[in-house]
Amino acid sequence: MSEKLPEPGIRSLLLNPPLGSEVKIQGWVRTKRESKAGLAFLEINDGSYFQNLQAVVPATLPDYATLMHGINVGTSVSIVGKLVPSQGGKQAVELQAAEVKIVGACDPGAFPLGKQKMTYEYLRDFTHLRSRTNTFSAIARVRNVLAMGIHEFFQTRGFLWLHTPIITGNDAEGAGQMFRVTTLDMEKPPRGEDGKVDFAKDFFGQGANLTVSGQLEAEAYACSMGKVYTFGPTFRAENSNTSRHLAEFWMVEPEVAFNDLDANARLAEDFLKHLLATVLEKCPLEMDFFKQRIEAGILDLLNGVLKKPFQRLTYTEAVDVLKKSGETFKYAVEWGIDLQSEHERYLTEKVFQAPVVLTDYPKDIKAFYMKMNPDGKTVRAMDVLVPGIGEIIGGSQREDDLEKLKARLAGMGMHAGGLEWYLDLRRFGSVPHAGFGLGFERLVQFVTGMGNIRDVIPFPRTPGHIRI
Ligand code: 4AD
Ligand code: MG
Repeated sequence: MSEKLPEPGIRSLLLNPPLGSEVKIQGWVRTKRESKAGLAFLEINDGSYFQNLQAVVPATLPDYATLMHGINVGTSVSIVGKLVPSQGGKQAVELQAAEVKIVGACDPGAFPLGKQKMTYEYLRDFTHLRSRTNTFSAIARVRNVLAMGIHEFFQTRGFLWLHTPIITGNDAEGAGQMFRVTTLDMEKPPRGEDGKVDFAKDFFGQGANLTVSGQLEAEAYACSMGKVYTFGPTFRAENSNTSRHLAEFWMVEPEVAFNDLDANARLAEDFLKHLLATVLEKCPLEMDFFKQRIEAGILDLLNGVLKKPFQRLTYTEAVDVLKKSGETFKYAVEWGIDLQSEHERYLTEKVFQAPVVLTDYPKDIKAFYMKMNPDGKTVRAMDVLVPGIGEIIGGSQREDDLEKLKARLAGMGMHAGGLEWYLDLRRFGSVPHAGFGLGFERLVQFVTGMGNIRDVIPFPRTPGHIRI
């Protein structure tokens, strides 16, 4: 009989309860409580919804004692029963179990999640199981909603989703240290006459790396398709052991032909606001949970961000504000320094209490492709800083003048060799264009209030750490 029943999932059963009908649920036991009145209460979660569905199991079921012995926190079960208004006060509906099957047993002594007071750090050793908890399943659903919100934002505005390569032959993309991709024998790699490893003998006939950004390739397609965006994994081999850095993270990079820096900043603001509004609308239970358990001010913060325009100022103005603040920073502020997260957070949290778009950074701390300002000292860069995180977006208007770009590469001691294709975009029908990169995990951190970036990606990779 159970085979023919609909299996709508717990989300649908709780949101649109077909009261009085017989249904089947399949999921994992979150809690088990046996009452003296000859009943057992099982809270079942199947991942589809924040809330569990309570199944009430009468002791009159055949094999009741064996079932109760076999069912523990973590056991997977399949339950058929009638959905009825709940007797208890905590939930609106419950399932009156008529048939309970154990699908997979779970030994309570060995199950790592049954413990009291599991810290996030403890759970990082169990990335394969932590999505069985409220916190990590809520984060997983929020990530999913944000990812779809990203596509929705761009698709409704005529952007093309571009799939840029993960393995790249570019050896410098202006965004940090790279991981090498090779099939050479590490024990005895082929060497040239100079004694150096000969990557011409490697798989691609040259050196190759994992990409740090899809931007350069996105520029190629923006300069034909107009508006494009990438959304994919990126890799950075920096030894940054912070709560904001991963060695593998996801980045969203829109790139738009004919946009200048001002249009770029407006796009970034509309984009972030759209994503916040989407999560607040589509994940009310998750957001309420984050407010209760993770960050008490999270809803006020996000709603506040939605109401106010982002604050715009130049790097030079920001340095002035910081120097005049009277605040003692760990890293002293001077014009020319790369702002640290303490400076960024001071600006967005203390001074403006809103997201800040900082523009026109000194050229020496920014990548080669950014458009030079007439002052010859600053470039048309922009970083978006948000409370609790600091930099969440980095972008710029791109240098579209061939000679200036060549001069800049030469000035930075870079060889244009591998970048001839990139220079072609300036040779053949060059246009002003601009784009930015949003760190997807920093966005998830911002939205959920989670303190450590390792807890907002399913399987984190950081220096010295790769579990699964
Ligand atoms: O500022 P970044 O390095 O900019 C770029 O890569 C440009 N190519 C983007 C563009 O203009 N298309 O990185 C962009 C964003 C940062 O603002 C940050 O949110 C995130 O990516 N990010 C990281 N997130 C997690 N771990 C890391 N190691 C990150 N490095 C950057
Ligand atoms: Mg940056």
